[in-house]
Amino acid sequence: MAFPQRFGYFGASPQPFAPMTDSVHATPDDSMLVRIRGLTTVLGGKTIFSGLDMDIPRGKITAIMGPSGTGKTTLLKHITGQMRADAGRIVVDGQNVAELSREKLYEMREGIGYLFQNSALLTDFDVFENVAFPLRQHTRLPEVLIRNLVLLKLQAVGLRGAAALMPSELSGGMARRVALARAIVFDPMLILYDEPFVGLDPVALNQVLKLIRTLNQTLGITSVLVAHELAAIRQVADHVFLVANGKVVAQGDPKTIADDGSPWTRQFFGGEADGPVPFQYPAGDYAQALGFAGAAK
Ligand SMILES: Nc1ncnc2c1ncn2[C@@H]1O[C@H](COP(=O)(O)OP(=O)(O)O)[C@@H](O)[C@H]1O
Ligand SMILES: [Mg+2]
Repeated sequence: MAFPQRFGYFGASPQPFAPMTDSVHATPDDSMLVRIRGLTTVLGGKTIFSGLDMDIPRGKITAIMGPSGTGKTTLLKHITGQMRADAGRIVVDGQNVAELSREKLYEMREGIGYLFQNSALLTDFDVFENVAFPLRQHTRLPEVLIRNLVLLKLQAVGLRGAAALMPSELSGGMARRVALARAIVFDPMLILYDEPFVGLDPVALNQVLKLIRTLNQTLGITSVLVAHELAAIRQVADHVFLVANGKVVAQGDPKTIADDGSPWTRQFFGGEADGPVPFQYPAGDYAQALGFAGAAK
């Protein structure tokens, strides 16, 4: 019986994924799993990214921070090819995402675990079926293997005992961990965490934090973490990017980035209301909107 290569458990190889190489786009710098160059995105007339460059190292935890609405979720969707940019290049594991065929894109996505901003569990399915869902959608594995895989992932997040619970019976932290079990069901090479700590109490937050670190270290998974919690980021991240106004405005070691003294980091990490990040979402003329066109002097 043949199993897909990505199920590392079934093969002798410790590498769950066959390396995806594409000689046209592969560069000598193999230490970067994701390379973004000149990313430019306009959504609804608003420029989200204007020439953003970012390198995400293999096997490390990279944090992306930035004001709300700055485009962090959009950036993750560009990496998975769910959203196309207007210009620029995103290379994931040597492959230019924009140039992939539909089939190759789906193949690449199976190598990426995505933890959504809300846990996004299917409310009509129990925990087991939520984790089994991607397997049922994308494979024809026999039931006994699906069961083993799901229990293995639930065990990894400490929730094997919760397999029969419904999402409505879970605490926020448990729901987040179930979503994480689902995100790693295909043994991804890359996990994208979109604000995984929001709404968690300190205990649950630390559990998720510990899981992020464990998955990164024991499975060697490259992790990208969009989050605001600087204390948590300091504990796990190897590198931090601060994104604002369509670009990377600061980057560095999580222990020192907050102290670089630039106006960006002062405003963002110091929580100052005034600074380079505008308070107003771009809008048309206020007087005109209120019906006083021409009255404002
Ligand atoms: N599909 C879309 N169409 C139009 N505007 C969008 C779309 N998706 C996101 N936006 C806008 O793009 C900006 C960035 O959104 P998002 O990536 O969700 O920011 P963040 O995750 O940093 O809070 C926001 O202003 C949002 O309103
Ligand atoms: Mg977001």
